[in-house]
This record gives sequence, C-alpha cells and structure tokens, in this order.
Amino acid sequence: MRFSTSLYLPPMPSPHIAPVSTTLPSSAAGAATASKALFWNRIAARYAAAPIADMGGYETTLRRVQGLLSTTHDVLEIGCGTGSTALRLAPFTRRLLATDVSSEMIAIARQRLAGQPSPQLSFAVADAEATAFGQRAYDVVLAFNLPHRARALDVALTQVAQALRPGGLLISKTPCIAEMNPLIAYLAVPLLRASGIVPRVLCLNQQRLQSAMVQQGMQIVCAERHGTRGKDFRAFMVARKPG
Ligand SMILES: C[S@@+](CC[C@H](N)C(=O)[O-])C[C@H]1O[C@@H](n2cnc3c(N)ncnc32)[C@H](O)[C@@H]1O
Repeated sequence: MRFSTSLYLPPMPSPHIAPVSTTLPSSAAGAATASKALFWNRIAARYAAAPIADMGGYETTLRRVQGLLSTTHDVLEIGCGTGSTALRLAPFTRRLLATDVSSEMIAIARQRLAGQPSPQLSFAVADAEATAFGQRAYDVVLAFNLPHRARALDVALTQVAQALRPGGLLISKTPCIAEMNPLIAYLAVPLLRASGIVPRVLCLNQQRLQSAMVQQGMQIVCAERHGTRGKDFRAFMVARKPG
C-alpha cells in the first residue's frame, strides 16, 4: 500500500522551493519514521540547552558554509535539530527550508524563529529518508551531524541527489565514529545501542562517506576538518551534483 502525507508548511512566497510531501511506501515506513523521532523528541529540550562542545570548530564551519552560499540559493537543511545553524545561515540564502524528523526539535526551532524572525527561513517536520523534497528543487542541501544517523545512508543520499539542481552542492559535517578510539566504536556504541539508550549510528570513516556520495553520482569538491579541540573526527565534506 502507498500513501502520501502532506506536511504543514507556512506559506512559501518563493516559487523556487518545492512543497514538501512525504511519500511513505507502507505503514511500516511510517512506523520507522515515528521510531526515529522518538529518541530525539525525548531529548529535544536537553539538546537545545546543551552548549556546543567545540565552538571554535563550529564557527569555522559556519564561515566556510557562508562562503559557499549565495542570496540566489534555495537551500534545504536535513536533520536541522533545534535550528541554531539554520538561523545563522538563512540570511546568506534566498530561502532556507530546515527540516527534522523530530516534531519536538522543530517546535523549539519555530520558537527560536519567532524570537529572531528571519524572512528566508521556514521549518518543517520531515524524515530525510522518506521525504520527496522535490526534483531539482535546491541549489544546496545541508546535512550537519546527520549522515551517521541514517538507517539507510544510500536512501538518504538518493533523496538528496534528486532534490539538488545540476551543479548543486551537498554540504555535510559528519562524525566518523570509525576514526575514534576503537573502544567507542566497538564497545561503547554497541552497548548503548543494545541497551536502547541511543538510536543506532553508522561507524563511518571519511573514505566510506566519500564512496557513498560518489556512488550517487556526486563529485567530491573538498574534505576538511574544522575541529579546534583534540582529535577531530568530524569530516566536513562538500560534494557537487554534476551540471
Ligand atoms: C545530532 S542532531 C544534529 C542536529 C543539528 N544538525 C546540529 O548539527 O546540531 C541529529 C538530528 O537529526 C535528526 N534526525 C535523525 N534522523 C533523521 C532523519 N531520518 N530525518 C531527518 N532528521 C533526522 C534528529 O531528530 C536530530 O535533530
């Protein structure tokens, strides 16, 4: 059985951004989306209150992304969390639609937007692995601290590749857990997963992430590290959809 669910979105004055709709292949997929949201809904308030661990690295990434954006760009963010990054980047875009699977994260993001209005920015609840964001609708897709959370990385990247216009950019920053202390990747993460405390994560390294993007026909533009504290295991990567 196939069914579609339209999502609430505030009116979009720009004709350049396609409306978001989820196309869920089955009720099992709907249940999968709900289960992904469960953990993040539970921790949304704590996540919003937690300080950024490496502020220097975060600011470096923001400056780098700002340099890649233009006020002619229609931008989609997937896994936007409570919207802090979207609020910072929206003024550098024509329109930024920031999405997250967690309705609680998006509720906090909308509260922040109400206190800090940004005409380019809107938020929507959407599962990046089950949402048709439109064909060739965006110049840039942003994915920060999300790709390692994908249950099916190839599915998420297929959606991204479809949503990008030719020449468009996927800009991502991803914890590469396989590059961390092996005790974290092979002991702590499996134990936390088995106990049900955290959702599953992919133990990625930069090479694997890069290959997954290349398999979707993307060209790697750059791979950098922006951390300012300790060993930097977050890969900042930019990939281009061929024009
Ligand atoms: C570690 S947080 C990162 C939030 C934000 N991008 C940041 O860098 O602070 C991961 C976010 O991804 C969201 N998420 C997880 N799986 C998702 C999916 N399949 N589709 C959309 N969002 C997802 C979670 O709800 C959460 O807000």
